[in-house]
Amino acid sequence: MDDYKHGMLMDDELLAELRKKFAFLDYDPDYGERLFFDNSGGSIRLKESIKVREKIDLLPDCPERYHQRANDFNQIMEKGKHDILNVMFGAKSGSLITELTASQAMFAMVSAVIENVNGESAVTTNIEHPSAYDSVEFYCKKNNKEFRVAEVNKDTGFVDPEAVADLIDDNTILLSVIASSNISGNIMDLENIIKAARAKKTDLYILVDAVQHLPHGTLDVERIGIDGVNFAPYKFMASRGIGFAYVSDRLSKLPHNKLIAKEDSVWELGSPTPALFASMSAVIDYVCWLGSKDNKDPNESRRKLYLKGMEKIILHERALLYRMLEGSEKIEGLRHMDKVQVFADYPDLTKRDFIVAIGIDGKDYEQLRKDYQEKGVTVYERVNTSVYSKRILEAIGLTGAIRISPFHCHTIDEIDKFLFITKELVKS
Ligand SMILES: Cc1ncc(COP(=O)(O)O)c(C=O)c1O
Repeated sequence: MDDYKHGMLMDDELLAELRKKFAFLDYDPDYGERLFFDNSGGSIRLKESIKVREKIDLLPDCPERYHQRANDFNQIMEKGKHDILNVMFGAKSGSLITELTASQAMFAMVSAVIENVNGESAVTTNIEHPSAYDSVEFYCKKNNKEFRVAEVNKDTGFVDPEAVADLIDDNTILLSVIASSNISGNIMDLENIIKAARAKKTDLYILVDAVQHLPHGTLDVERIGIDGVNFAPYKFMASRGIGFAYVSDRLSKLPHNKLIAKEDSVWELGSPTPALFASMSAVIDYVCWLGSKDNKDPNESRRKLYLKGMEKIILHERALLYRMLEGSEKIEGLRHMDKVQVFADYPDLTKRDFIVAIGIDGKDYEQLRKDYQEKGVTVYERVNTSVYSKRILEAIGLTGAIRISPFHCHTIDEIDKFLFITKELVKS
């Protein structure tokens, strides 16, 4: 896939077919036509995912019963679990955590490790989302462990494996590291970060925040040796109201909140929500459907179809990213537009998810976001006055940025439209 340095667009027919599967792709039902380029804050919804959720939610039955409907609900949840653990993450073992949010799932994993594993320190990075960063700091303080922070390489926007490994010793319990930056879209070199970390401490627990990465990429948790990874369905074509995480067998068995009669590896607590499992399965079915498009093997596994579907998404997004940065004979790209700065602009697009941070000389970020909205483009400003962004922005040498986060269902024409609007804003 890395051979396609500038990506590869899906063919027009497939793109037209998949676009019909999404709700409010190019207009808001109340405010009219708009380009939705804020998928990092919550992605465009797959209609089927919301439809199936409603269909199941309309039924009153309790899944913890033995009648037919209850059995159906249990099958839906079993399928959801299998889809997430096995099809999405490539796991052959491990458990699933469900919480209200991805942040809660992260806190649950961090607490299980820091409160129960013997050792003296834990490591994270200075570009983590607050849910990952604060959870490590909070449980370190509470348990008298040393809280260590690896710094991102300011020149590249990536966390170097050595920067992490330098902070790990024999008494380190945990490393928590983000899969891709929610400001620049840079995809961390998890494989080499984990290798370098484990070279210092073989049985280190490793957690990954994949909330921004999974809608744009894949992770094979067993191959690279991750103990826990979270994601948020609302950023991945489905609904708000649930955060999921994979936990490895050994992490799943550490003490955590659960009913005493349940097995050690169970993390779910209280009434389960079949509708939200079905909603996530619909997303995974959709990616597998994409993967089945030019697949010739009728017995291909769902995991392989998922990987092929994600490959189509990755390559299409990379081609759109290239167009956004480089432009065409119609209009110059962001890299070449007068007064536009592309921040953390790493040249190798194979190491970037489809998130771009920009500024326009002399323009205030909040005002710029409003100007974009007036011209029918939804984007978001990240500024260092926000608790969510301050540390992360400053870590890569910024005070603010407009974050542009389109999605794989967008087209070249929509990218061009965005570029024309940006050029108008530069002039205004
Ligand atoms: C990288 C990253 N991690 C975690 C989160 C938290 O997700 P949630 O709000 O579902 O807890 C976000 C939300 O924006 C995020 O961008």
